[in-house]
Amino acid sequence: MKIVIIGAGAMGSLYGAKLSTAEAPVYLLDVWPEQVRAINEGGITVEDAASGAAEAYPKIRAFSDAAEAGEADLAIVFVKSTLTARAVRENRAVFGEHTTVLTLQNGLGNVEGIAETLPRGRIIAGTTAQGATLLGPGRVRHGGKGKTVIGELDGSVTERIKAVADLFNRAGLETEISANVEGLIWDKLLVNVGINALTAITGVPNGELLLHEELAELLAAAVAEGEQVAGAKGVKLNIPDPVSHTREVCAATGKNRSSMLQDILAGRPTEIDRINGAILREGAAVGIAAPVNAVLHKLVTFLEKNGAGKPRRGM
Ligand code: PAF
Repeated sequence: MKIVIIGAGAMGSLYGAKLSTAEAPVYLLDVWPEQVRAINEGGITVEDAASGAAEAYPKIRAFSDAAEAGEADLAIVFVKSTLTARAVRENRAVFGEHTTVLTLQNGLGNVEGIAETLPRGRIIAGTTAQGATLLGPGRVRHGGKGKTVIGELDGSVTERIKAVADLFNRAGLETEISANVEGLIWDKLLVNVGINALTAITGVPNGELLLHEELAELLAAAVAEGEQVAGAKGVKLNIPDPVSHTREVCAATGKNRSSMLQDILAGRPTEIDRINGAILREGAAVGIAAPVNAVLHKLVTFLEKNGAGKPRRGM
């Protein structure tokens, strides 16, 4: 199965590295020239946060131009959720008639973004509880292991979903199949709602959210608001207790800097509008206020515009 991963950031690089061990050719696409060059020269090195051991994955090629990668059997979209629709539109050369497209991205709206260009029947979706931090071109830190769960949009268990799950498992990425993709996406959304903005604002790694009473309370309040919105929309969550589950993900990815913290530190736009912002929008549509999410949304938007830790005017 030829795999093309669109977006060679932390998660794209981690999945690319691992999948290259499963006898599948893996090509990464990214607009960052240093990243493309580093991968072509030395592959990807994955550093394990727990043990400190580094492992090299040399069997990967990277390109900036989708035409060079060519048509994929499986295309995995790993760009920021704010860029999904554009990334699919601009990398059309990757998608042939037979290509299956998988989104494992954070946030709401990724399936819809892909479906602007491709038929829904070609899309499969899922979530990942892996944590990864990009250390520099060609280098990623694996900050916490977690399950990947994938499914067809209509919940059926097809040969293609079984083949993708099998490939991921062979690559050491523990993967399950779910018949409830909408629930899956919301399960993960609630995790991101609880972790990402709070870590981006405070600068702490995921595990520390559990060590400070004030932060642990805010995490629980933000997730509970999201859960209420999901309930009002009729979304069937797979996770019975999303607050406890978010705490478990904090612990499992304790040393990881959340993707939103990484974005703020690097001065990049974040996914705040697709995460806490999505709770506000979806909540408004069903008449539910989400005041904690509103504050988190405003604070991260401020940091996005003004940068973290920079001296303010007049100081
Ligand atoms: O966005 C992230 O960083 C990840 O989804 C997660 C699971 C919160 C781990 O850091």
